[in-house]
Amino acid sequence: MRTTATTTLLLFVTLVSFHSCYYDNEAYLYSTPVSCTDTTSTYTARLAPILNNNCVSCHGAGEFPNLSSFQDVNTLKEEIVCRVVEGNSCSSGAQMPPSAGLNTCDIQGFTLWQQNGYQE
Ligand code: HEC
Repeated sequence: MRTTATTTLLLFVTLVSFHSCYYDNEAYLYSTPVSCTDTTSTYTARLAPILNNNCVSCHGAGEFPNLSSFQDVNTLKEEIVCRVVEGNSCSSGAQMPPSAGLNTCDIQGFTLWQQNGYQE
């Protein structure tokens, strides 16, 4: 009887650990690196929506810098790319947006914009 109880317990423990391994693996699978699909980026198609969603609340018309038109964004392009891509390592100031930065694929949008000559 004793042996049966021990065996049952061992079996239970083994099943529980395999079960949790399964979930660990699943969690790992879902947290593998993001793949960004963009191969190019222009202000109109890629950056304007990002800027409107993440920057214009603080950098709208009447604020400095105003980031709501291509002309304004183009004037500060190096500074914008530095703050967004290099974050707090940017030599001229803090990461933008200040709290959390942008997600990986949106940051890549700025890198591609720079690499492709800051196109409108
Ligand atoms: C919560 C408000 C807030 C948000 C959101 C925000 N910024 Fe800023 N930003 C500031 C403040 C405050 C400053 C001035 C302090 C500084 O230079 O770090 C600033 C400064 C800047 C500057 C430097 C301007 C200069 O030449 O002096 C740039 C460029 C900039 N932000 C770009 C962005 C971009 C791009 C985004 C969105 C990806 C963004 N910011 C989102 C508050 C914000």
